[in-house]
Amino acid sequence: MATPLTPVITEFWDRPDLYTLDGYRAVGGYTALDKALKMDPDAIIGQVKDSGLRGRGGAGFPTGMKWGFVPQGDGKPHYLVVNADESEPGACKDIPIMMANPHALVEGVIIASYAIRANHAFIYIRGEVPNAIRKVAFAVRQAKEAGLIGKNILGSGFDLDVVVHSGAGAYICGEETALLDSLEGYRGQPRLKPPFPAVAGLYASPTVINNVETIANVPYIVDRGVEWFRQFGTEKSPGFKVFAVSGHVKRPGIYEAPLGITMRELLDYAGGMRDGSNVKFWIPGGSSVPMLTPEHLDLPLTYEAMAEAGTMLGTGTPMLFDQTTSVVKAVTRWLEFYKHESCGKCTPCREGTYWITGVLEKFEHGHGTEGEMETLVNLCGQIAGRSFCALGDAAATPYPAALKYFRDEFEAATHTSADEQFDPVASYVFAGAGAR
Ligand SMILES: Cc1cc2nc3c(=O)[nH]c(=O)nc-3n(C[C@H](O)[C@H](O)[C@H](O)COP(=O)(O)O)c2cc1C
Ligand code: SF4
Repeated sequence: MATPLTPVITEFWDRPDLYTLDGYRAVGGYTALDKALKMDPDAIIGQVKDSGLRGRGGAGFPTGMKWGFVPQGDGKPHYLVVNADESEPGACKDIPIMMANPHALVEGVIIASYAIRANHAFIYIRGEVPNAIRKVAFAVRQAKEAGLIGKNILGSGFDLDVVVHSGAGAYICGEETALLDSLEGYRGQPRLKPPFPAVAGLYASPTVINNVETIANVPYIVDRGVEWFRQFGTEKSPGFKVFAVSGHVKRPGIYEAPLGITMRELLDYAGGMRDGSNVKFWIPGGSSVPMLTPEHLDLPLTYEAMAEAGTMLGTGTPMLFDQTTSVVKAVTRWLEFYKHESCGKCTPCREGTYWITGVLEKFEHGHGTEGEMETLVNLCGQIAGRSFCALGDAAATPYPAALKYFRDEFEAATHTSADEQFDPVASYVFAGAGAR
């Protein structure tokens, strides 16, 4: 039997008024906050730890553990920052959550802030999605008017201010420390870690940074309990996930399902591939994770199974491609994206993404060489693990996986003439890259 879908965050998305306070309250909204404010903050951290909730922003870090790193009684202000910058190619689940159910996020923000003893929270939203910004700002305003944000919330003695902040459209500002710099008014570039944000984050004070979906899970865990949450998923990947399925499927969209559902099952829910087409390759979660092939369709979508298969669950936003897609072209487009979005702070990523893209574009036009196939492997090896932040690592992942599964396509895009070799120096000068 197919794994059933488990609409939780998405359960009432067909209610047109869900984005309003009344609509959210009508389906049980803000009852978790009532409960939470009567609990000891440490007990909430304990509950989130026990639930095994893992961050939905890509890395899957245990949320309760992250909250537990915040030093208590240190006399410093604490901050909660929600990462709503969602800009990864293929990732499209936080924006729908904010559009359809913004109060789940706001309720989660209030509970999480109470747990880590933060009196200020920020929701940093990607600047290109004004509709999501408006929806969240409206929800925050309504919550303020109802006394759910502000001084002495529901008579608990807890004070909280929530600021909705719009980013300016740089993918790197989704990297948590670049986001903090951007929030402080600086150019968004990653910071050296350690110190980690839990110890020295926003304005050098302890800060928890969590993804939208992570925080939106919190009210449901507090309200329904750890056992309820753990009935879904696996021991290492408990709970459910808002999967955003896209690509050459009949019904691209949001499918909330237990972790551990297979890609084949999700694909069935998405109506299968479009008529006359088959899966050629697919990516479990955003362009930053290595691709898989049809032979992996029956693997459970969990953090552990994806790691075993040599990829990552990432943002849990699978993209499926059919036989009409050129792997060479797809990888080239992704690398162009990383080259464009590299913040330029460190050499391996700034220069490496430039070189890789240049060579890949040769393959795209059928002018690559056998030697350059190895040059690309070498270039990716110079970036992975040697860059300042994970954007560099992400840029180094698409090509090696593509070569592993689709070597023949790169071979077919080669041209053996020696005078067609990629001349990096000439190309660099010609492109005016030195003036960047
Ligand atoms: C280039 C880059 C972009 C990122 N973009 C996002 C993003 O848009 N949203 C997000 O939640 N995490 C993003 N991350 C991951 C964050 O750095 C961080 O791990 C995450 O916000 C932590 O939240 P979580 O523990 O709830 O997953 C990005 C990381 C990198 C390297
Ligand atoms: S890896 Fe890329 S994005 Fe990250 S700091 Fe270095 S140049 Fe900037």
